[in-house]
Amino acid sequence: MFRFIKASSLRKVIGTGLLILILINLVLIYNSSKYKLPEVIKVTQRSPLLQNDKWIVVTTSSFREEDFAALTRIPGWKVVIVALRRDAIPTIRLNNCVYLDIAQQNQLGYKTADFIPEGSYARKNIGYLYAMFHGARVIYETDDNVRLLDGLRRFEFKTRMRGLMYAGENMFNPFRHFGQPTLWPRGYPLSAIGEEINNKYILHEFKTPLIQQGIISNDPDVDAMLKFSRKMTNAHFNATFDNRAPPVILPAGVFSPFNSKDTLFLYNALWGLMLPTTVTNSETDIWRGYWIQRLLWEIDGNLGFFPPNAIHTDSEHSTLEKTVVDEKRVYFQTEDVIKFLKQWQCPEDFIFYDCIMRLSSEMVNHDFWDYSDYDLAKSWLNDLKAAGFVLPQRRSPKPTSDMPSLFQNISNSNSDVSKDPRDPKAVYFWPSEQNPPSIYSSARESNGMSWNHVNKVVKMCSGAQVSISHSMFNEHKQYDDILLIIVFNFPHLKNIDNLQTLYSIHFSHILFCANDSRQFVAASKTLQQRVSFVKTYTVEGIVIYNCLSHAISMNYDVSGYIIMGDDVLLNTWNIADLPRDKFWFQKSLQVFNRSDSYERNRWIWWKRKSGKRAYNNLFKFLQTIPSLNPEKAPLIRDFNEMLKSNTQSDDGLLRAVSDFLYVPTRFQDRMLYFLEIFSMHGVMLELALPTVMGGLDHRKNIVPIRGVVLWYEHRLNYTTMFNPSSHFMHPLKLGREMKKKKGWHFVCSRVIPLMLHGVTKKN
Ligand SMILES: *[C@@H]1O[C@H](CO)[C@@H](O)[C@H](O)[C@H]1NC(C)=O
Ligand SMILES: *[C@@H]1O[C@H](CO)[C@@H](O)[C@H](O)[C@H]1NC(C)=O
Ligand SMILES: *[C@@H]1O[C@H](CO)[C@@H](O)[C@H](O)[C@H]1NC(C)=O
Ligand SMILES: *[C@@H]1O[C@H](CO)[C@@H](O)[C@H](O)[C@H]1NC(C)=O
Ligand SMILES: *[C@@H]1O[C@H](CO)[C@@H](O)[C@H](O)[C@H]1NC(C)=O
Repeated sequence: MFRFIKASSLRKVIGTGLLILILINLVLIYNSSKYKLPEVIKVTQRSPLLQNDKWIVVTTSSFREEDFAALTRIPGWKVVIVALRRDAIPTIRLNNCVYLDIAQQNQLGYKTADFIPEGSYARKNIGYLYAMFHGARVIYETDDNVRLLDGLRRFEFKTRMRGLMYAGENMFNPFRHFGQPTLWPRGYPLSAIGEEINNKYILHEFKTPLIQQGIISNDPDVDAMLKFSRKMTNAHFNATFDNRAPPVILPAGVFSPFNSKDTLFLYNALWGLMLPTTVTNSETDIWRGYWIQRLLWEIDGNLGFFPPNAIHTDSEHSTLEKTVVDEKRVYFQTEDVIKFLKQWQCPEDFIFYDCIMRLSSEMVNHDFWDYSDYDLAKSWLNDLKAAGFVLPQRRSPKPTSDMPSLFQNISNSNSDVSKDPRDPKAVYFWPSEQNPPSIYSSARESNGMSWNHVNKVVKMCSGAQVSISHSMFNEHKQYDDILLIIVFNFPHLKNIDNLQTLYSIHFSHILFCANDSRQFVAASKTLQQRVSFVKTYTVEGIVIYNCLSHAISMNYDVSGYIIMGDDVLLNTWNIADLPRDKFWFQKSLQVFNRSDSYERNRWIWWKRKSGKRAYNNLFKFLQTIPSLNPEKAPLIRDFNEMLKSNTQSDDGLLRAVSDFLYVPTRFQDRMLYFLEIFSMHGVMLELALPTVMGGLDHRKNIVPIRGVVLWYEHRLNYTTMFNPSSHFMHPLKLGREMKKKKGWHFVCSRVIPLMLHGVTKKN
């Protein structure tokens, strides 16, 4: 194990080491003061016909038309295909597409090309450069065995976006966020796999992540060890993800591996596309990914993960031995890389270019890659300059990017502190968990109903007769495309357990919303499963519709949202066939005149602060928007017109009991815009929801739903008032009633059987 080294050779070793160190230092000193770029780079083949601002870069080692055809048809994008080998010969010319064989790659005149051997995956660098030389401001990169399913629809191209930022430290596992908590991506440090689960997030408006990684489902990018341990030898690895889960942004300080198979780079991150050449093809993108993440913090940029949008067409059938060897660094060096990057500082007086070069050089010193990748970086940046690319300015992250501390502050504050619905909100997010891939897959799930969940239902109702049939599993329907938002006027959050058990029979996505996250944390301790929760400002329920605004801002990919109180019993078996693209609301809408007196409309809230006064302030404010913000003028005009037509009055507004509402996604942006303004003026729920709805669509388009609404002493008789053919009943205080024999019997013997069996039957 241990070899003596002769003194003379030791001296030689030390001597050479010193010499190298001195040389490196010289290079550094030379470079940090100069980093001079050569002025002229000869670049041939810069075709003006092929200028485009959106490029897809894809590699191939065996040209097959079907691998690229769909990419070339995405409107607005052009594709550059980079051959990795000489024998990848195109059989056909595709439109919107440039094919670069090895010879062409070498003729382009990019200095970078000199460093990349044939067959190296890093030849993709030439494709990135080609795109940038031809006007790229956005680059999407993928591989020839990845099939994009959504035409890049779910990525974000605007400069800012509303959504979730992870509020943890250290590592983030994107597969957990998208419903596979037992999987991890290739390049995830093995020591972090078992870390305590953190599902805290901040909901806010953020800069759009400069790098957006999509998730590949069925055969996701996991490391070979994981893959081989979760499938039969000859079977395909097959994992599903929660494709409705919202995107997530990582804050500075948090790392996650990301690959080059399904990744979007916005302009300010294009400098970071460079794939190193002195690591293996299975390591290069992961290494690049960690390198760029650290540098992103210097420009206040972020990495984000976006929902599943692609699948693998053929999984590489490689032997375990070969794959594992190929991924060696990924298993054994990732911890060191992360540790190093975390403590790495770019000297304060450096410009961003210098930071890139300094880090690339220190990666050499730490043996993470070889010297020639330092040279590669230099040539790469020179080529970028020749392409006209401008490096972003260095900018340190804003203080609010300390997400764990911000989360703590929001959670501990009295919810009144942040009245503005657009202020950051604390969210606990948990996706719809999917079956983990395993060697023995006996836990088959069908149609969203699992034995596991039925077990919870039966447990909640143990003692009652709940009949379970096989057909129930086959015919069962889940409303996978609706987000159910359950709002608490009072934070009786212990009820979450029963509500979750009851409604996850039909809903795979439920979001709880209340004004108190400490109560939530306390209640979570006894929950049988993790759930999603957002803390908001409610004022005893007056602006509880903030919950809808938050849910919309989170960015789930759904057809619509149901918002209802925690004391509503939703007859889930009756809503399967309601149209998902229309509002659903109760029929009786009262038309008010905003000058009405209380004597006229006799609605007690009208004379309170959140009634007439709040509405009239809001109304005046709405009319000032067009002059303050002309681009919103059409929005306000349409809203006024629609409301006028729905109330037959210039001064009209709508009022209704609003325990239940369904909002289709096509209205979500306008709904969000108006609800936030209504909330900031403190307009009461029963005015806000009906009036905003009435400003967006014709009353005749609203799907009327039937509710059993109980008042006064009738509330005690909910078991006799219950009507299985209506859509909901209000109120049923589940937590309180389930403790009584009558309520428990009602839920377990009447409601649950209807939920389990009722959907496919017509009532
Ligand atoms: C993977 O699993 C999904 C869902 O269970 C199934 O629909 C699909 O056919 C499977 N794919 C393969 C290749 O087995
Ligand atoms: C959290 O609150 C403390 C004390 O008020 C404050 O010093 C700190 O800056 C806050 N942190 C964030 C991220 O808002
Ligand atoms: C939440 O709302 C309830 C009822 O309005 C109120 O009593 C309580 O103080 C609020 N809690 C917080 C943390 O704001
Ligand atoms: C609303 O009420 C005001 C004051 O009573 C009245 O002048 C106005 O005509 C009413 N508008 C309509 C459309 O009824
Ligand atoms: C509630 O039910 C009881 C028993 O069926 C009946 O006697 C009573 O009149 C009912 N009360 C109301 C308000 O319907």
